[in-house]
Amino acid sequence: MSRVTIAEAPGKVILLGEHAVVYGRPAIAAPVSQLRARAWVEEAPAGFELVAADVGLTYSWGEPAPEALRPLVALLKATWERLGLGQPPAVRLTLRSQIPIARGLGSGAALATALVRGMAEYAGVPLPPEEISHLVYEAERFYHGNPSGIDNTVVAYEQPVYFVRGQRPRPVRVGAPFELAIADTGVPSSTREVVDEVRLAWERERERYERLFDQIGALVERGRRAMESGDLPELGRIMDANHERLVELGVSLPALEGLIRAARGAGALGAKLSGAGRGGNAIALLAPDSRQAVGAALESAGAARLILTPVGRSERE
Ligand code: PMV
Repeated sequence: MSRVTIAEAPGKVILLGEHAVVYGRPAIAAPVSQLRARAWVEEAPAGFELVAADVGLTYSWGEPAPEALRPLVALLKATWERLGLGQPPAVRLTLRSQIPIARGLGSGAALATALVRGMAEYAGVPLPPEEISHLVYEAERFYHGNPSGIDNTVVAYEQPVYFVRGQRPRPVRVGAPFELAIADTGVPSSTREVVDEVRLAWERERERYERLFDQIGALVERGRRAMESGDLPELGRIMDANHERLVELGVSLPALEGLIRAARGAGALGAKLSGAGRGGNAIALLAPDSRQAVGAALESAGAARLILTPVGRSERE
């Protein structure tokens, strides 16, 4: 019987600190463990083949890679090198993902992480999260230009993390587990484009943007303390305050504002955009008794998709 290895990685959501994290300030992100990317690795005597099942693209070793698969092919080569494989293994690696694309949910990092993990497990050389994260970061650079590294970190570690560029990520101990509603505007967002626009604005108005990044950094510090002490009302207020700074950075959108207003109006403890903005998702911190009302309000405010995800309980619920 041919050997099959299955490896997985979760989606992610940024709780606090997006954009400022690109400029050296801290941010906090959590895995979205019920949305997963999977890699199947099985023997294929005809030689190495990569199948990106969701987009219907295939790459066979020795042939030119389709444009969209080039970053993954580069990542495969780096992974084989790290694993000490002298030549491409004779396997078929199939990728599938439940994570919506271009919504700030880490779909690219999750696929890349599943790919690296799948190859490593198949080769019998399991890699620690730090090394997986490092390999995936290089692939993220193809998609995002100058990513902070928070996506690959939270996806590879699969736990809430406090992240500062260039430093070892620190796990965030969650004092009181909570639930987030993740509401999709239905508007795709290109992280690369939004990050580039923020950079242009920062170049024009450096002082104002630095001040905003400092304010966001200070909110993240407070947010970490609130998460660790289990002070959810305080965490909600911090999310609201972080969102106001993101509005000032110019990355919100009427569709995001509508969802955020609806969630707050229905009793969420706090709400903000999450990820690059200009589309993608809003997140809302649910009070234990506000789940139904906030969910219904987000749906009637036009959420294209609604995901409820626990933070701080078993990461695989
Ligand atoms: O990939 P997204 O959409 O969650 O956004 C990433 C967050 C940014 O801070 C805007 C960019 C980055 O590299 O950290």
